[in-house]
Amino acid sequence: MRSHYCGELREREIEKTVTLYGWVDRHRDHGGVIFIDLRDRTGIVQIVSDPQRTPASYATAEQVRNEYVIKVTGKVSQRPEISLNTRIATGAIEIYAENIEILNGVSKQLPFVISTGEGESVREEVRLKYRYLDLRREKMSQNLQLRHGVVKAMRRFLEDQENFIEVETPILTRSTPEGARDYLVPSRVNLGQWYALPQSPQLFKQLLMVSGMDRYYQIARCFRDEDLRADRQPEFTQLDMEMSFLSFNEILALNEALICHIFKTVKNIDIPRPLPRLTYAESMDRYGCDRPDTRFGLELIDVCEIFKDSGFKVFSGAINSGGVVKTICIQGGNDVISNVRIKPGGDLFREAAEAGAKGIAYIRVRENYELDTIGAIKDNLGQEQKQALIEKTGALPGDLLLFGAGDRETVNKSLCRLRLVLGEQLGLIDEDKINLLWITDFPMFEWNADEQRLEALHHPFTAPHPEDVDNLPTARALAYDMVFNGIEIGGGSLRIYQREIQEKVFSTIGLSMEEAYNKFGFLLEAFEYGTPPHGGIAYGLDRLVMLLAKEESIRDVIAFPKTQQASCLLTSAPSSVDAKQLKELQVSSTYKPKLKE
Ligand code: AMO
Repeated sequence: MRSHYCGELREREIEKTVTLYGWVDRHRDHGGVIFIDLRDRTGIVQIVSDPQRTPASYATAEQVRNEYVIKVTGKVSQRPEISLNTRIATGAIEIYAENIEILNGVSKQLPFVISTGEGESVREEVRLKYRYLDLRREKMSQNLQLRHGVVKAMRRFLEDQENFIEVETPILTRSTPEGARDYLVPSRVNLGQWYALPQSPQLFKQLLMVSGMDRYYQIARCFRDEDLRADRQPEFTQLDMEMSFLSFNEILALNEALICHIFKTVKNIDIPRPLPRLTYAESMDRYGCDRPDTRFGLELIDVCEIFKDSGFKVFSGAINSGGVVKTICIQGGNDVISNVRIKPGGDLFREAAEAGAKGIAYIRVRENYELDTIGAIKDNLGQEQKQALIEKTGALPGDLLLFGAGDRETVNKSLCRLRLVLGEQLGLIDEDKINLLWITDFPMFEWNADEQRLEALHHPFTAPHPEDVDNLPTARALAYDMVFNGIEIGGGSLRIYQREIQEKVFSTIGLSMEEAYNKFGFLLEAFEYGTPPHGGIAYGLDRLVMLLAKEESIRDVIAFPKTQQASCLLTSAPSSVDAKQLKELQVSSTYKPKLKE
Protein backbone atom coordinates (compact mmCIF):
# COMPACT_ATOMS: atom_id res chain seq x y z
CA MET A 1 0.00 0.00 0.00
CA ARG A 2 1.24 3.48 -0.83
CA SER A 3 1.80 5.43 2.40
CA HIS A 4 2.61 8.82 0.87
CA TYR A 5 2.94 10.68 -2.41
CA CYS A 6 6.53 11.60 -3.28
CA GLY A 7 6.12 15.37 -3.19
CA GLU A 8 4.39 15.37 0.21
CA LEU A 9 7.30 14.13 2.32
CA ARG A 10 8.88 16.61 4.74
CA GLU A 11 11.15 16.58 7.80
CA ARG A 12 8.14 15.62 9.95
CA GLU A 13 8.32 12.13 8.35
CA ILE A 14 11.95 11.54 9.42
CA GLU A 15 12.45 8.06 10.91
CA LYS A 16 9.16 6.82 9.40
CA THR A 17 9.12 3.93 6.96
CA VAL A 18 7.23 4.88 3.83
CA THR A 19 6.06 3.12 0.67
CA LEU A 20 6.08 5.11 -2.53
CA TYR A 21 5.18 4.47 -6.16
CA GLY A 22 6.39 6.48 -9.12
CA TRP A 23 8.58 6.97 -12.16
CA VAL A 24 12.36 7.29 -12.18
CA ASP A 25 13.03 10.91 -13.04
CA ARG A 26 16.84 10.47 -12.96
CA HIS A 27 19.26 8.04 -11.45
CA ARG A 28 22.91 8.62 -10.60
CA ASP A 29 25.65 6.34 -9.42
CA HIS A 30 27.94 8.24 -7.03
CA GLY A 31 30.86 5.95 -6.35
CA GLY A 32 28.78 2.94 -5.46
CA VAL A 33 25.86 4.78 -3.85
CA ILE A 34 22.85 5.04 -6.17
CA PHE A 35 20.53 8.05 -6.09
CA ILE A 36 17.12 7.88 -7.73
CA ASP A 37 14.81 10.87 -8.14
CA LEU A 38 11.36 9.32 -7.81
CA ARG A 39 8.52 11.28 -9.37
CA ASP A 40 4.74 11.17 -9.14
CA ARG A 41 2.22 13.88 -9.87
CA THR A 42 2.94 15.66 -6.59
CA GLY A 43 6.67 16.10 -7.14
CA ILE A 44 10.04 14.46 -6.66
CA VAL A 45 11.83 12.83 -3.73
CA GLN A 46 15.36 11.43 -3.54
CA ILE A 47 15.83 7.69 -2.95
CA VAL A 48 19.21 6.37 -1.83
CA SER A 49 20.46 2.82 -2.18
CA ASP A 50 23.75 2.17 -0.43
CA PRO A 51 25.42 -1.27 -0.65
CA GLN A 52 26.51 -0.87 3.01
CA ARG A 53 23.34 0.54 4.56
CA THR A 54 20.62 -0.96 2.33
CA PRO A 55 22.15 -4.00 0.62
CA ALA A 56 18.72 -5.60 -0.07
CA SER A 57 17.68 -2.87 -2.53
CA TYR A 58 21.05 -2.39 -4.19
CA ALA A 59 20.89 -5.01 -6.93
CA THR A 60 17.54 -3.67 -8.16
CA ALA A 61 18.67 -0.03 -7.85
CA GLU A 62 21.48 -0.84 -10.26
CA GLN A 63 19.00 -2.03 -12.88
CA VAL A 64 16.58 0.91 -12.92
CA ARG A 65 16.65 3.37 -15.79
CA ASN A 66 14.86 6.63 -16.52
CA GLU A 67 11.06 6.38 -16.57
CA TYR A 68 10.91 2.88 -15.08
CA VAL A 69 7.89 2.45 -12.82
CA ILE A 70 9.01 1.35 -9.35
CA LYS A 71 7.78 0.74 -5.84
CA VAL A 72 10.07 1.79 -3.02
CA THR A 73 9.90 1.08 0.69
CA GLY A 74 12.36 2.78 2.96
CA LYS A 75 13.10 5.02 5.89
CA VAL A 76 12.94 8.82 5.67
CA SER A 77 16.24 10.43 6.74
CA GLN A 78 17.55 13.95 7.15
CA ARG A 79 19.85 14.86 4.24
CA PRO A 80 23.39 15.80 5.21
CA GLU A 81 23.96 19.60 5.15
CA ILE A 82 26.03 19.34 1.99
CA SER A 83 23.29 17.75 -0.11
CA LEU A 84 20.28 19.89 0.94
CA ASN A 85 18.32 20.88 -2.17
CA THR A 86 16.35 24.09 -1.74
CA ARG A 87 14.88 23.91 -5.27
CA ILE A 88 12.48 21.09 -4.43
CA ALA A 89 9.95 20.91 -1.62
CA THR A 90 11.33 17.57 -0.38
CA GLY A 91 14.94 18.78 -0.55
CA ALA A 92 15.65 18.44 3.18
CA ILE A 93 15.08 14.67 3.28
CA GLU A 94 15.85 11.46 1.41
CA ILE A 95 14.63 7.86 1.62
CA TYR A 96 17.01 4.99 2.34
CA ALA A 97 15.46 2.23 0.21
CA GLU A 98 15.06 -1.05 2.02
CA ASN A 99 13.24 -2.53 -0.94
CA ILE A 100 12.87 -1.52 -4.58
CA GLU A 101 10.55 -3.37 -6.91
CA ILE A 102 10.54 -2.72 -10.64
CA LEU A 103 6.89 -2.76 -11.73
CA ASN A 104 7.61 -1.95 -15.34
CA GLY A 105 10.48 -0.93 -17.53
CA VAL A 106 10.82 1.14 -20.71
CA SER A 107 11.35 -0.94 -23.80
CA LYS A 108 11.76 1.84 -26.35
CA GLN A 109 14.00 4.87 -26.70
CA LEU A 110 12.24 7.83 -25.05
CA PRO A 111 11.38 10.52 -27.66
CA PHE A 112 12.57 13.24 -25.26
CA VAL A 113 13.94 13.66 -21.77
CA ILE A 114 11.08 14.08 -19.34
CA SER A 115 13.00 15.13 -16.26
CA THR A 116 12.12 18.59 -14.91
CA GLY A 117 13.69 21.47 -16.76
CA GLU A 118 14.85 19.29 -19.64
CA GLY A 119 11.77 19.13 -21.84
CA GLU A 120 11.35 22.85 -22.43
CA SER A 121 12.94 22.97 -25.86
CA VAL A 122 11.20 19.92 -27.30
CA ARG A 123 9.20 20.74 -30.46
CA GLU A 124 5.48 21.00 -29.84
CA GLU A 125 4.63 18.42 -32.52
CA VAL A 126 6.73 15.82 -30.72
CA ARG A 127 5.18 16.76 -27.38
CA LEU A 128 1.68 16.40 -28.83
CA LYS A 129 2.43 13.07 -30.49
CA TYR A 130 3.69 11.65 -27.18
CA ARG A 131 1.32 13.71 -25.06
CA TYR A 132 1.11 11.02 -22.35
CA LEU A 133 4.86 11.50 -21.78
CA ASP A 134 4.64 15.27 -22.09
CA LEU A 135 2.01 15.27 -19.33
CA ARG A 136 4.52 13.56 -17.01
CA ARG A 137 6.59 16.76 -17.13
CA GLU A 138 6.27 18.80 -13.97
CA LYS A 139 4.94 21.96 -15.61
CA MET A 140 2.27 20.15 -17.60
CA SER A 141 1.24 18.02 -14.66
CA GLN A 142 0.92 21.19 -12.57
CA ASN A 143 -1.15 22.86 -15.28
CA LEU A 144 -3.66 20.02 -15.28
CA GLN A 145 -3.82 20.06 -11.51
CA LEU A 146 -4.31 23.83 -11.54
CA ARG A 147 -7.15 23.37 -14.04
CA HIS A 148 -8.74 20.85 -11.72
CA GLY A 149 -8.32 23.29 -8.82
CA VAL A 150 -10.06 26.04 -10.79
CA VAL A 151 -13.01 23.81 -11.69
CA LYS A 152 -13.26 22.63 -8.09
CA ALA A 153 -13.31 26.22 -6.82
CA MET A 154 -16.02 27.06 -9.36
CA ARG A 155 -18.15 24.15 -8.25
CA ARG A 156 -17.70 24.86 -4.56
CA PHE A 157 -18.64 28.52 -4.96
CA LEU A 158 -21.58 28.01 -7.29
CA GLU A 159 -23.05 24.95 -5.58
CA ASP A 160 -22.28 25.51 -1.93
CA GLN A 161 -22.51 29.29 -1.68
CA GLU A 162 -24.86 30.33 -4.46
CA ASN A 163 -27.36 27.51 -4.97
CA PHE A 164 -26.51 26.69 -8.57
CA ILE A 165 -27.23 23.22 -9.90
CA GLU A 166 -25.31 21.53 -12.69
CA VAL A 167 -27.41 20.30 -15.59
CA GLU A 168 -26.02 18.53 -18.65
CA THR A 169 -27.27 19.61 -22.06
CA PRO A 170 -27.10 17.64 -25.32
CA ILE A 171 -24.01 17.30 -27.47
CA LEU A 172 -25.98 16.02 -30.47
CA THR A 173 -28.23 18.96 -31.12
CA ARG A 174 -29.31 21.70 -33.53
CA SER A 175 -27.15 24.55 -34.58
CA THR A 176 -26.90 27.33 -31.94
CA PRO A 177 -26.59 30.96 -32.96
CA GLU A 178 -23.03 31.78 -31.84
CA GLY A 179 -21.79 32.78 -35.27
CA ALA A 180 -19.00 30.27 -35.97
CA ARG A 181 -19.22 27.29 -38.34
CA ASP A 182 -20.82 24.14 -36.93
CA TYR A 183 -19.36 20.68 -36.67
CA LEU A 184 -21.95 18.40 -38.23
CA VAL A 185 -22.79 14.77 -37.48
CA PRO A 186 -24.88 12.74 -39.94
CA SER A 187 -27.83 10.82 -38.58
CA ARG A 188 -28.08 7.13 -39.49
CA VAL A 189 -31.61 6.78 -38.23
CA ASN A 190 -32.84 9.91 -40.00
CA LEU A 191 -30.95 9.64 -43.23
CA GLY A 192 -30.11 12.94 -44.88
CA GLN A 193 -30.39 14.84 -41.60
CA TRP A 194 -27.65 16.23 -39.44
CA TYR A 195 -26.97 17.08 -35.87
CA ALA A 196 -24.76 20.03 -35.03
CA LEU A 197 -22.38 19.87 -32.08
CA PRO A 198 -23.17 22.78 -29.73
CA GLN A 199 -21.16 25.99 -30.11
CA SER A 200 -22.43 26.63 -26.60
CA PRO A 201 -25.41 25.46 -24.53
CA GLN A 202 -27.05 28.87 -25.07
CA LEU A 203 -30.57 27.80 -26.06
CA PHE A 204 -30.80 24.95 -23.58
CA LYS A 205 -29.72 27.07 -20.65
CA GLN A 206 -32.39 29.61 -21.48
CA LEU A 207 -34.95 26.78 -21.68
CA LEU A 208 -33.80 25.65 -18.23
CA MET A 209 -34.75 29.09 -16.93
CA VAL A 210 -38.24 28.63 -18.44
CA SER A 211 -38.26 25.29 -16.56
CA GLY A 212 -37.71 27.09 -13.28
CA MET A 213 -34.20 25.75 -12.59
CA ASP A 214 -33.40 29.26 -11.36
CA ARG A 215 -29.61 28.98 -11.29
CA TYR A 216 -27.87 26.65 -13.74
CA TYR A 217 -24.21 25.97 -14.42
CA GLN A 218 -22.27 23.45 -16.44
CA ILE A 219 -18.66 22.76 -17.26
CA ALA A 220 -19.62 22.54 -20.89
CA ARG A 221 -17.71 21.35 -23.91
CA CYS A 222 -18.28 23.60 -26.93
CA PHE A 223 -17.38 23.04 -30.58
CA ARG A 224 -16.62 25.76 -33.11
CA ASP A 225 -15.17 25.23 -36.54
CA GLU A 226 -13.19 28.47 -36.84
CA ASP A 227 -9.66 29.57 -37.64
CA LEU A 228 -7.44 28.63 -34.73
CA ARG A 229 -5.09 30.86 -32.74
CA ALA A 230 -3.12 30.48 -29.54
CA ASP A 231 -6.25 31.17 -27.51
CA ARG A 232 -8.73 29.21 -29.64
CA GLN A 233 -9.41 25.50 -29.98
CA PRO A 234 -12.06 23.76 -32.09
CA GLU A 235 -13.36 22.11 -28.94
CA PHE A 236 -13.00 24.03 -25.74
CA THR A 237 -14.59 24.21 -22.32
CA GLN A 238 -16.81 26.87 -20.86
CA LEU A 239 -18.01 27.49 -17.38
CA ASP A 240 -21.54 28.19 -18.55
CA MET A 241 -24.08 29.88 -16.27
CA GLU A 242 -27.63 31.20 -16.44
CA MET A 243 -29.71 32.75 -13.67
CA SER A 244 -33.24 34.05 -13.21
CA PHE A 245 -34.56 37.16 -11.45
CA LEU A 246 -31.22 38.94 -11.12
CA SER A 247 -30.56 42.48 -12.33
CA PHE A 248 -27.59 43.51 -14.45
CA ASN A 249 -25.66 44.72 -11.40
CA GLU A 250 -26.55 41.65 -9.36
CA ILE A 251 -25.23 39.34 -12.08
CA LEU A 252 -21.98 41.29 -12.33
CA ALA A 253 -21.55 41.30 -8.54
CA LEU A 254 -22.14 37.53 -8.28
CA ASN A 255 -19.60 36.93 -11.02
CA GLU A 256 -17.04 39.17 -9.40
CA ALA A 257 -17.45 37.18 -6.19
CA LEU A 258 -16.94 33.97 -8.21
CA ILE A 259 -13.78 35.19 -9.91
CA CYS A 260 -12.36 36.52 -6.63
CA HIS A 261 -13.12 33.17 -4.98
CA ILE A 262 -11.19 31.37 -7.74
CA PHE A 263 -8.14 33.64 -7.41
CA LYS A 264 -8.16 33.35 -3.64
CA THR A 265 -8.55 29.56 -3.68
CA VAL A 266 -5.99 28.64 -6.33
CA LYS A 267 -3.50 31.50 -6.06
CA ASN A 268 -4.18 33.06 -2.66
CA ILE A 269 -4.54 36.42 -4.40
CA ASP A 270 -7.06 39.03 -3.26
CA ILE A 271 -8.62 40.86 -6.19
CA PRO A 272 -10.16 44.18 -5.12
CA ARG A 273 -13.89 44.50 -5.78
CA PRO A 274 -15.86 45.89 -7.50
CA LEU A 275 -13.99 45.34 -10.74
CA PRO A 276 -13.56 48.40 -12.94
CA ARG A 277 -16.08 48.82 -15.76
CA LEU A 278 -15.37 50.40 -19.10
CA THR A 279 -18.02 51.02 -21.71
CA TYR A 280 -17.40 49.60 -25.16
CA ALA A 281 -17.28 53.15 -26.58
CA GLU A 282 -14.66 54.27 -24.05
CA SER A 283 -12.59 51.15 -24.56
CA MET A 284 -12.57 51.65 -28.33
CA ASP A 285 -11.64 55.33 -27.88
CA ARG A 286 -8.81 54.78 -25.42
CA TYR A 287 -7.43 51.40 -26.49
CA GLY A 288 -8.80 50.80 -30.00
CA CYS A 289 -10.33 47.44 -29.04
CA ASP A 290 -12.95 45.88 -26.79
CA ARG A 291 -10.51 43.76 -24.78
CA PRO A 292 -7.90 46.23 -23.61
CA ASP A 293 -4.74 45.26 -21.78
CA THR A 294 -4.84 47.96 -19.11
CA ARG A 295 -1.59 46.93 -17.40
CA PHE A 296 0.18 49.75 -19.22
CA GLY A 297 -0.55 53.20 -20.68
CA LEU A 298 0.22 54.20 -24.28
CA GLU A 299 -3.44 55.11 -24.66
CA LEU A 300 -4.86 56.32 -27.97
CA ILE A 301 -5.51 60.07 -28.00
CA ASP A 302 -8.05 61.61 -30.37
CA VAL A 303 -6.54 64.69 -32.05
CA CYS A 304 -9.28 65.40 -34.60
CA GLU A 305 -10.03 68.83 -33.12
CA ILE A 306 -6.42 69.88 -33.69
CA PHE A 307 -6.11 68.69 -37.26
CA LYS A 308 -9.58 69.09 -38.76
CA ASP A 309 -8.58 72.29 -40.60
CA SER A 310 -4.96 71.31 -41.17
CA GLY A 311 -3.29 71.88 -44.51
CA PHE A 312 -1.93 68.35 -44.15
CA LYS A 313 -4.57 66.68 -46.26
CA VAL A 314 -3.93 63.13 -45.04
CA PHE A 315 -5.19 64.24 -41.62
CA SER A 316 -7.87 66.80 -42.47
CA GLY A 317 -9.13 64.68 -45.37
CA ALA A 318 -9.58 61.65 -43.09
CA ILE A 319 -11.44 63.71 -40.50
CA ASN A 320 -13.68 65.50 -42.98
CA SER A 321 -14.73 62.27 -44.64
CA GLY A 322 -16.01 60.88 -41.35
CA GLY A 323 -12.77 59.25 -40.17
CA VAL A 324 -10.40 60.11 -37.34
CA VAL A 325 -6.82 61.01 -36.46
CA LYS A 326 -5.45 59.47 -33.27
CA THR A 327 -2.01 59.29 -31.75
CA ILE A 328 -0.04 57.38 -29.16
CA CYS A 329 2.70 59.12 -27.22
CA ILE A 330 5.75 56.98 -26.50
CA GLN A 331 7.71 58.32 -23.56
CA GLY A 332 11.38 58.59 -24.42
CA GLY A 333 10.52 57.05 -27.81
CA ASN A 334 13.04 59.20 -29.69
CA ASP A 335 15.95 57.27 -28.28
CA VAL A 336 14.58 53.81 -28.90
CA ILE A 337 12.53 53.98 -32.10
CA SER A 338 14.32 54.95 -35.31
CA ASN A 339 12.69 56.39 -38.43
CA VAL A 340 13.64 53.21 -40.29
CA ARG A 341 11.26 51.20 -38.13
CA ILE A 342 8.34 53.54 -38.84
CA LYS A 343 8.85 53.96 -42.60
CA PRO A 344 7.86 51.41 -45.28
CA GLY A 345 9.91 48.25 -44.79
CA GLY A 346 10.21 48.81 -41.02
CA ASP A 347 8.73 46.43 -38.45
CA LEU A 348 6.32 48.96 -36.95
CA PHE A 349 5.14 49.97 -40.41
CA ARG A 350 4.49 46.31 -41.17
CA GLU A 351 2.45 45.86 -37.99
CA ALA A 352 0.26 48.86 -38.85
CA ALA A 353 -0.07 47.75 -42.48
CA GLU A 354 -1.19 44.27 -41.45
CA ALA A 355 -3.98 45.94 -39.49
CA GLY A 356 -5.03 47.79 -42.66
CA ALA A 357 -3.25 51.16 -42.24
CA LYS A 358 -1.57 52.80 -45.23
CA GLY A 359 1.27 54.16 -43.12
CA ILE A 360 2.27 55.79 -39.84
CA ALA A 361 2.87 59.53 -39.48
CA TYR A 362 5.16 60.62 -36.67
CA ILE A 363 6.35 63.69 -34.80
CA ARG A 364 9.34 63.80 -32.49
CA VAL A 365 9.36 66.20 -29.53
CA ARG A 366 12.85 67.68 -29.19
CA GLU A 367 14.54 70.03 -26.70
CA ASN A 368 12.41 73.10 -25.84
CA TYR A 369 9.37 71.35 -27.28
CA GLU A 370 10.59 71.80 -30.88
CA LEU A 371 8.56 69.43 -33.05
CA ASP A 372 10.59 67.48 -35.55
CA THR A 373 9.00 65.72 -38.49
CA ILE A 374 9.18 65.39 -42.25
CA GLY A 375 7.32 66.07 -45.51
CA ALA A 376 3.89 67.59 -45.88
CA ILE A 377 3.08 67.25 -42.21
CA LYS A 378 6.09 69.45 -41.35
CA ASP A 379 5.08 72.20 -43.80
CA ASN A 380 1.58 72.35 -42.37
CA LEU A 381 2.24 72.35 -38.66
CA GLY A 382 1.38 75.83 -37.33
CA GLN A 383 2.42 77.23 -33.95
CA GLU A 384 -1.11 76.95 -32.58
CA GLN A 385 -1.40 73.29 -33.58
CA LYS A 386 1.99 72.50 -32.06
CA GLN A 387 0.89 74.04 -28.78
CA ALA A 388 -2.44 72.21 -28.80
CA LEU A 389 -0.78 68.90 -29.63
CA ILE A 390 1.69 69.20 -26.76
CA GLU A 391 -1.14 70.05 -24.37
CA LYS A 392 -3.50 67.33 -25.54
CA THR A 393 -0.92 64.53 -25.50
CA GLY A 394 1.14 65.71 -22.51
CA ALA A 395 4.24 64.92 -24.59
CA LEU A 396 7.63 65.91 -23.17
CA PRO A 397 10.99 66.46 -24.88
CA GLY A 398 12.29 63.04 -25.97
CA ASP A 399 8.82 61.65 -26.68
CA LEU A 400 7.65 60.23 -29.98
CA LEU A 401 4.11 60.60 -31.31
CA LEU A 402 2.82 57.97 -33.76
CA PHE A 403 -0.33 58.84 -35.72
CA GLY A 404 -3.04 56.86 -37.46
CA ALA A 405 -5.44 58.62 -39.85
CA GLY A 406 -8.35 57.14 -41.78
CA ASP A 407 -11.62 55.39 -41.05
CA ARG A 408 -12.21 54.81 -37.35
CA GLU A 409 -12.02 51.03 -37.49
CA THR A 410 -8.65 50.92 -39.27
CA VAL A 411 -7.12 53.61 -37.07
CA ASN A 412 -8.26 51.83 -33.92
CA LYS A 413 -7.09 48.45 -35.16
CA SER A 414 -3.65 49.60 -36.28
CA LEU A 415 -2.90 51.79 -33.25
CA CYS A 416 -4.16 49.04 -30.92
CA ARG A 417 -1.71 46.67 -32.56
CA LEU A 418 1.18 49.15 -32.33
CA ARG A 419 0.30 49.80 -28.70
CA LEU A 420 0.48 46.09 -27.83
CA VAL A 421 3.69 45.48 -29.77
CA LEU A 422 5.40 48.51 -28.22
CA GLY A 423 4.08 47.75 -24.74
CA GLU A 424 5.74 44.37 -25.01
CA GLN A 425 8.97 45.53 -26.69
CA LEU A 426 9.53 48.47 -24.36
CA GLY A 427 8.98 46.31 -21.29
CA LEU A 428 5.96 48.35 -20.15
CA ILE A 429 3.93 45.28 -19.14
CA ASP A 430 4.32 44.11 -15.57
CA GLU A 431 3.87 40.35 -15.97
CA ASP A 432 2.87 39.97 -12.33
CA LYS A 433 -0.01 42.41 -12.61
CA ILE A 434 -3.56 41.08 -12.78
CA ASN A 435 -5.98 43.46 -14.46
CA LEU A 436 -9.54 42.26 -14.58
CA LEU A 437 -12.31 44.47 -15.85
CA TRP A 438 -15.76 44.49 -17.40
CA ILE A 439 -16.58 45.89 -20.79
CA THR A 440 -20.24 46.95 -20.90
CA ASP A 441 -22.69 48.73 -23.22
CA PHE A 442 -21.75 46.82 -26.36
CA PRO A 443 -23.72 47.83 -29.43
CA MET A 444 -26.64 45.45 -30.09
CA PHE A 445 -25.77 45.14 -33.78
CA GLU A 446 -22.91 45.45 -36.21
CA TRP A 447 -23.00 46.00 -39.94
CA ASN A 448 -22.29 42.95 -42.08
CA ALA A 449 -20.91 44.52 -45.25
CA ASP A 450 -20.96 41.24 -47.21
CA GLU A 451 -24.63 40.62 -46.58
CA GLN A 452 -25.55 44.33 -46.42
CA ARG A 453 -27.49 43.94 -43.18
CA LEU A 454 -27.22 44.41 -39.45
CA GLU A 455 -26.41 41.36 -37.40
CA ALA A 456 -26.45 40.69 -33.67
CA LEU A 457 -23.05 41.32 -32.08
CA HIS A 458 -23.54 38.67 -29.38
CA HIS A 459 -26.64 36.66 -30.30
CA PRO A 460 -30.19 37.70 -31.11
CA PHE A 461 -31.51 36.92 -27.61
CA THR A 462 -29.45 39.66 -25.97
CA ALA A 463 -31.64 42.32 -24.37
CA PRO A 464 -31.31 45.93 -25.50
CA HIS A 465 -30.64 48.69 -22.98
CA PRO A 466 -34.10 49.83 -21.81
CA GLU A 467 -33.28 53.45 -22.74
CA ASP A 468 -32.57 52.43 -26.34
CA VAL A 469 -35.51 50.17 -27.28
CA ASP A 470 -37.09 52.82 -29.50
CA ASN A 471 -34.02 53.07 -31.69
CA LEU A 472 -32.85 49.51 -31.96
CA PRO A 473 -30.32 49.76 -34.82
CA THR A 474 -28.03 51.93 -32.68
CA ALA A 475 -29.07 50.46 -29.32
CA ARG A 476 -26.66 49.42 -26.62
CA ALA A 477 -27.00 45.84 -25.37
CA LEU A 478 -27.26 44.70 -21.77
CA ALA A 479 -24.15 42.64 -22.44
CA TYR A 480 -20.85 42.33 -20.65
CA ASP A 481 -17.44 40.79 -21.28
CA MET A 482 -14.81 40.07 -18.66
CA VAL A 483 -11.28 40.91 -19.78
CA PHE A 484 -8.13 39.61 -18.06
CA ASN A 485 -4.86 41.25 -19.11
CA GLY A 486 -6.09 41.91 -22.64
CA ILE A 487 -7.81 38.56 -23.21
CA GLU A 488 -11.59 38.06 -23.22
CA ILE A 489 -12.20 35.36 -20.66
CA GLY A 490 -15.95 35.58 -20.44
CA GLY A 491 -19.02 37.14 -21.92
CA GLY A 492 -22.75 37.16 -21.49
CA SER A 493 -25.88 39.25 -21.32
CA LEU A 494 -29.35 39.74 -19.99
CA ARG A 495 -31.79 38.07 -22.34
CA ILE A 496 -34.94 39.19 -24.02
CA TYR A 497 -37.93 37.57 -22.36
CA GLN A 498 -40.74 39.61 -23.89
CA ARG A 499 -42.13 38.65 -27.25
CA GLU A 500 -42.57 42.19 -28.66
CA ILE A 501 -38.94 43.04 -28.08
CA GLN A 502 -37.77 39.74 -29.53
CA GLU A 503 -39.82 40.39 -32.67
CA LYS A 504 -38.35 43.87 -33.04
CA VAL A 505 -34.82 42.47 -32.74
CA PHE A 506 -35.46 39.82 -35.37
CA SER A 507 -36.88 42.38 -37.73
CA THR A 508 -33.84 44.65 -37.19
CA ILE A 509 -31.54 41.87 -38.37
CA GLY A 510 -33.82 41.18 -41.31
CA LEU A 511 -35.23 37.93 -39.92
CA SER A 512 -38.98 37.48 -40.39
CA MET A 513 -40.90 35.83 -37.57
CA GLU A 514 -41.40 32.86 -39.89
CA GLU A 515 -37.67 32.47 -40.49
CA ALA A 516 -37.02 32.94 -36.80
CA TYR A 517 -39.55 30.20 -36.03
CA ASN A 518 -37.84 27.90 -38.49
CA LYS A 519 -34.54 28.41 -36.71
CA PHE A 520 -35.48 28.69 -33.05
CA GLY A 521 -39.20 27.95 -32.98
CA PHE A 522 -38.84 25.70 -29.95
CA LEU A 523 -37.29 28.53 -27.94
CA LEU A 524 -39.79 31.16 -29.06
CA GLU A 525 -42.65 28.82 -28.28
CA ALA A 526 -41.22 28.07 -24.85
CA PHE A 527 -41.06 31.79 -24.16
CA GLU A 528 -44.87 31.93 -24.51
CA TYR A 529 -45.35 29.82 -21.39
CA GLY A 530 -44.16 32.15 -18.64
CA THR A 531 -40.52 33.09 -18.96
CA PRO A 532 -38.68 34.65 -16.03
CA PRO A 533 -36.34 37.58 -16.59
CA HIS A 534 -32.94 35.94 -16.90
CA GLY A 535 -29.36 36.40 -17.95
CA GLY A 536 -26.11 34.53 -18.02
CA ILE A 537 -22.48 34.35 -18.90
CA ALA A 538 -19.89 31.85 -20.11
CA TYR A 539 -16.19 31.83 -19.27
CA GLY A 540 -13.52 30.26 -21.42
CA LEU A 541 -12.09 27.81 -18.88
CA ASP A 542 -9.02 27.07 -21.01
CA ARG A 543 -8.20 30.77 -21.36
CA LEU A 544 -8.68 31.46 -17.66
CA VAL A 545 -6.39 28.57 -16.69
CA MET A 546 -3.85 29.59 -19.34
CA LEU A 547 -3.60 33.04 -17.78
CA LEU A 548 -3.44 31.69 -14.24
CA ALA A 549 -0.69 29.26 -15.29
CA LYS A 550 1.13 32.08 -17.16
CA GLU A 551 1.17 30.03 -20.33
CA GLU A 552 1.14 31.52 -23.82
CA SER A 553 -1.21 29.00 -25.39
CA ILE A 554 -4.38 27.23 -24.28
CA ARG A 555 -2.86 24.03 -25.69
CA ASP A 556 -0.65 23.97 -22.59
CA VAL A 557 -3.62 23.68 -20.24
CA ILE A 558 -5.65 21.14 -22.21
CA ALA A 559 -4.74 17.47 -21.75
CA PHE A 560 -5.18 16.44 -25.38
CA PRO A 561 -5.44 19.55 -27.56
CA LYS A 562 -5.59 19.95 -31.32
CA THR A 563 -2.95 21.65 -33.46
CA GLN A 564 -3.48 24.86 -35.45
CA GLN A 565 -4.70 22.56 -38.25
CA ALA A 566 -7.36 21.17 -35.88
CA SER A 567 -5.79 17.73 -35.79
CA CYS A 568 -4.80 15.47 -32.92
CA LEU A 569 -1.25 14.24 -33.46
CA LEU A 570 -1.61 11.50 -30.87
CA THR A 571 -4.60 9.71 -32.37
CA SER A 572 -4.28 11.12 -35.91
CA ALA A 573 -7.78 12.56 -35.88
CA PRO A 574 -9.43 13.53 -38.12
CA SER A 575 -9.01 10.47 -40.28
CA SER A 576 -10.74 8.65 -43.08
CA VAL A 577 -13.38 6.10 -42.11
CA ASP A 578 -14.53 2.76 -43.47
CA ALA A 579 -16.49 2.94 -46.69
CA LYS A 580 -19.05 0.75 -44.90
CA GLN A 581 -19.64 3.44 -42.27
CA LEU A 582 -20.21 6.08 -44.93
CA LYS A 583 -22.52 3.82 -46.88
CA GLU A 584 -24.63 3.20 -43.81
CA LEU A 585 -24.97 6.93 -43.34
CA GLN A 586 -25.50 7.46 -47.06
CA VAL A 587 -22.80 10.10 -47.01
CA SER A 588 -20.10 10.50 -49.60
CA SER A 589 -17.37 13.08 -49.94
CA THR A 590 -17.00 15.23 -53.03
CA TYR A 591 -13.43 16.05 -52.03
CA LYS A 592 -10.82 15.11 -54.60
CA PRO A 593 -7.25 15.19 -53.31
CA LYS A 594 -5.00 17.32 -55.55
CA LEU A 595 -2.74 15.17 -57.68
CA LYS A 596 0.92 15.62 -56.87
CA GLU A 597 2.83 17.22 -59.76
P1 AMO B 1 -18.86 33.53 -26.18
O1 AMO B 1 -19.02 33.11 -27.58
O2 AMO B 1 -18.39 34.93 -25.91
O3 AMO B 1 -20.26 33.43 -25.41
O4 AMO B 1 -17.93 32.50 -25.44
C1 AMO B 1 -17.64 32.62 -24.04
C2 AMO B 1 -16.15 32.49 -23.79
O5 AMO B 1 -15.66 31.28 -24.32
C3 AMO B 1 -14.29 31.44 -24.71
N1 AMO B 1 -14.15 30.99 -26.10
C4 AMO B 1 -13.18 30.15 -26.54
N2 AMO B 1 -12.16 29.55 -25.88
C5 AMO B 1 -11.35 28.73 -26.59
N3 AMO B 1 -11.50 28.45 -27.90
C6 AMO B 1 -12.52 29.02 -28.61
N4 AMO B 1 -12.67 28.72 -29.90
C7 AMO B 1 -13.41 29.92 -27.93
N5 AMO B 1 -14.49 30.65 -28.29
C8 AMO B 1 -14.92 31.29 -27.19
C9 AMO B 1 -13.95 32.90 -24.54
C10 AMO B 1 -15.31 33.56 -24.47
O6 AMO B 1 -15.28 34.73 -23.69
N6 AMO B 1 -23.37 31.54 -25.09
C11 AMO B 1 -22.51 32.70 -24.90
C12 AMO B 1 -22.42 33.10 -23.46
C13 AMO B 1 -23.66 33.76 -22.91
O7 AMO B 1 -24.20 34.68 -23.54
O8 AMO B 1 -24.07 33.36 -21.79
C14 AMO B 1 -21.12 32.36 -25.44
O9 AMO B 1 -20.80 31.25 -25.78
O10 AMO B 1 -13.25 33.08 -23.33
